[in-house]
Amino acid sequence: MMLIKTSLHFDMEPIIEQVKNLGHFKRSLLLNETEGNILSGYYTTKKEYVNTPLGEVLKQLGDIGEARLLKLDPEDVYTAHTDPDDRYHLSIITTDYSYIADLQANTLQHLPVDGYIWYMDTSIMHSAVNLGGGMERIHLNVRVRMPQIKGSYYSITFDDNNLVDWKQLLYNTIMGYINLMIKEKQITGFERISDREIHINCSPNVLQCIRDRALQGGFESVIKECN
Ligand SMILES: [Fe+2]
Repeated sequence: MMLIKTSLHFDMEPIIEQVKNLGHFKRSLLLNETEGNILSGYYTTKKEYVNTPLGEVLKQLGDIGEARLLKLDPEDVYTAHTDPDDRYHLSIITTDYSYIADLQANTLQHLPVDGYIWYMDTSIMHSAVNLGGGMERIHLNVRVRMPQIKGSYYSITFDDNNLVDWKQLLYNTIMGYINLMIKEKQITGFERISDREIHINCSPNVLQCIRDRALQGGFESVIKECN
């Protein structure tokens, strides 16, 4: 199952009210911040959201990564991808025809505004789409915080051999595997340094698997051992 309903539940009325009063934002609105790295840093709720309904949700979720409101305008869609970090979802404003697509099972799932936090396994190829006419869809989307880099690590830089859609392809070939290896604790530290560079604590075996997968996707990887 790509999406699992957790037991964490919130009264949606005040949350919807807050989101409606936030004013216009484009595709995403950041709710928390870190002084550390983007995927593995410790996050604190932005001042303006502390002691608000959204701030309370983040507090209840505990030790989390980046938290954003993600908006899908009518006819908006994400391309198919996997992510290194699983996500929590809370459906806040939706349309009858907004879906998260599981592209492994080839199924669509509509997340109702039911007050429940849903946990999403993003190692599975996925997308999201709003097919509702005229209305936007807004979800709270929260990253699971990645384990921090410790001690000596590998720096991997991916070279794309001039692939046109390299970023997309990187997320299709590598990130799902990294996600699974983090959950299996075979990767014990992970950080994205740039679109092309990651830092990673793992065994030489896992490193080789990443390199092989990258190669299958058309990427050369330059690996450095760092202390
Ligand atoms: Fe995703």
